[in-house]
Amino acid sequence: MPLNSRFLIILLISGLAACDSGKEVRAVGTAAPAQELTNNGAETSTESSRDFSSLPSPYNEADYALGRRTFKFCGSCHTLKEGGPDLVGPNLFGIIGREAGSRPGFNYSTALQEASFRWTPEKLEEWLNNPRTFLPGNNMTFSGVHRQDARHAVIAYVMHETGYGPESETTATP
Ligand code: HEC
Repeated sequence: MPLNSRFLIILLISGLAACDSGKEVRAVGTAAPAQELTNNGAETSTESSRDFSSLPSPYNEADYALGRRTFKFCGSCHTLKEGGPDLVGPNLFGIIGREAGSRPGFNYSTALQEASFRWTPEKLEEWLNNPRTFLPGNNMTFSGVHRQDARHAVIAYVMHETGYGPESETTATP
């Protein structure tokens, strides 16, 4: 008999000898809630952050998981949180409504420094569709997000994560 199962049997026997049925119930009782906890934890964390419904169309119908997944590309160069650091690219908090190339202290290309527009979801569409041709001479070495659903989703994700609100649209109109 393998050592493992002999050990198990010894455990079982000593367990049976040592405890009454009350202990067995307790053992089952402790295992179950632990499992529930992990399940609930996973659900609440995704549920609460999955809500694109307050965004304008078509972003309110974008796929959260796809957006988050697509942002992984951006995430090596950009942070989204308020006060987050600049990486290779500037922090994107409040990007909708923000003047292009205006993050203080970030070393933008001349192309982005000289651009005079505010970021809107539409501008982001164009930028992410093809960063190179949208603003020639910029430093964002990224080929773009060519699938429309992924582009909508990543823009929705960026809006959602960077404090987008209706007032962002107002400041966005020149
Ligand atoms: C390889 C690094 C890299 C990746 C990947 C990348 N970016 Fe960038 N991004 C940059 C750099 C660098 C700049 C600044 C470009 C310049 O100065 O010309 C920039 C600029 C921007 C700007 C303009 C910011 C401003 O302040 O005007 C936006 C918006 C942006 N990126 C969004 C994205 C999104 C969304 C993704 C993913 C879909 C992405 N970027 C992927 C490096 C990257």
